[in-house]
Amino acid sequence: MKVIGFNGSPHEKGTTWRGMTAVAGELEKAGIEVELVQVGGREIPGCTGCRSCFGTGRCRFDDMVNECAAKLAAVEGIILGSPVYYGGIAGGFKCFLDRLFYLRPHLRLKVGTTVTALRRTGGILAHQQLNNYLNLAEVIIAPAVYWNVIHGNGAEEALQDGEGMMVMRTAGRNMAWLIKSIAAGAVPFPETEPRVMTNFIR
Ligand SMILES: Cc1cc2nc3c(=O)[nH]c(=O)nc-3n(C[C@H](O)[C@H](O)[C@H](O)COP(=O)(O)O)c2cc1C
Repeated sequence: MKVIGFNGSPHEKGTTWRGMTAVAGELEKAGIEVELVQVGGREIPGCTGCRSCFGTGRCRFDDMVNECAAKLAAVEGIILGSPVYYGGIAGGFKCFLDRLFYLRPHLRLKVGTTVTALRRTGGILAHQQLNNYLNLAEVIIAPAVYWNVIHGNGAEEALQDGEGMMVMRTAGRNMAWLIKSIAAGAVPFPETEPRVMTNFIR
C-alpha cells in the first residue's frame, strides 16, 4: 500500500514538510509506504483551460503534472501540503493542482488529507482550498481533531506547535485506518452514474 504526498512549498524542508512528515510517520508505522514529491519551487505553468486533456488524458504542457497523474493510479492515498500565501495556497502549487485534478486522476474513493502551514493567520481558507480538490475527485478525506493547520516560520518552529503536530499525526493514523478498511473490501464500491454537466443556461 502506498500514499503519495505533494509538497507545495518552495522550502523543501520547511513548515509544510514538517507537517507532512508527521502524517507520513503514522502511515509508515502502519506499514504504508509514503513518497513525498517536491512541487514547490518548480516552474509550473497554470491551466489554460484548453481542454485538450479531455481528449488525450494528458496535459499539453508535458511536465511533472503528467508524471504525477500517472503515479496516482498506483496509490491508495494522497496528501496535499501547502504554505499559506496571502490567505490562500501558494500560487505555484495552485497551478500544479488545477492541472493535475483537471486530468481527472484515478482517486475515486481513495483516501486523502491535507497539511496547511502558516506563520500566523489565514489558514482556514487555504485548508478549504486544498480540500476542494480532494472533494471533487471523490477522495475520502481523513478526519482529524481539528483543521489540518500547523503554525511556524520553518520546520524547527513547527515542532513547537504541539497541537498542530498532534492534529497531523491524528490525520495520518485515521488515514491509515481508512486505507486498510477499504483494502479489507468488506463492502463493494458504490456504482457510479454518467457525469451530468449543467452549465446554468436556459
Ligand atoms: C508570499 C508569502 C505570503 C505569506 N502569507 C502568509 C499569510 O497570509 N499568513 C500567514 O500566517 N503566513 C504567511 N506567510 C508565511 C508562511 O506561510 C510561513 O512562513 C510558513 O511557515 C511557510 O511554510 P514553508 O516553510 O513550508 O514554506 C507568507 C509567506 C510568503 C512567502
